[in-house]
Amino acid sequence: MPAVLVLHGPNLNLLGEREPQVYGSLTLAEIDRRLNEAGRELGLEVRSFQNNSEGALIDALHDARSWASGVIFNPGGYAHTSVALRDAVAATRLPVVEVHLSNVFAREDFRRRSMISPACRGVVSGFGWYSYWMALLYLAKTLQAS
Ligand code: DQA
Repeated sequence: MPAVLVLHGPNLNLLGEREPQVYGSLTLAEIDRRLNEAGRELGLEVRSFQNNSEGALIDALHDARSWASGVIFNPGGYAHTSVALRDAVAATRLPVVEVHLSNVFAREDFRRRSMISPACRGVVSGFGWYSYWMALLYLAKTLQAS
């Protein structure tokens, strides 16, 4: 069964209590549980990892090269700042889908630009946990086809 890394960046460990009007009321554990279940139904093993440090996220992307067939990545605030994460995404040579719970284009100007997007297969933004689910669906369909 193909495996997918779901990688969550900084502050996403606080989902549920962090700005619920923007990010919703689901905890990260609940999102991961739903993705796991959806993955099983789609024939994908889902492995989730969250970290607040850029370096740990880079290490997780490097590590994914050896076992994952695709990556779903919510880089959090690093989306808007990190050249190093963009380079790590490009280095994986895996299909990486960037996701955001909120619609980053409908918020502050600085959120409109992502350093990561050009290295990704695509971006899903603004659909709450369904952003992750849509990315998972995409990976399941395209990995089955390849
Ligand atoms: C976010 C959007 C980012 O701008 C923000 O810094 C986050 C969460 C989202 O999922 O909507 O931490 O990635």
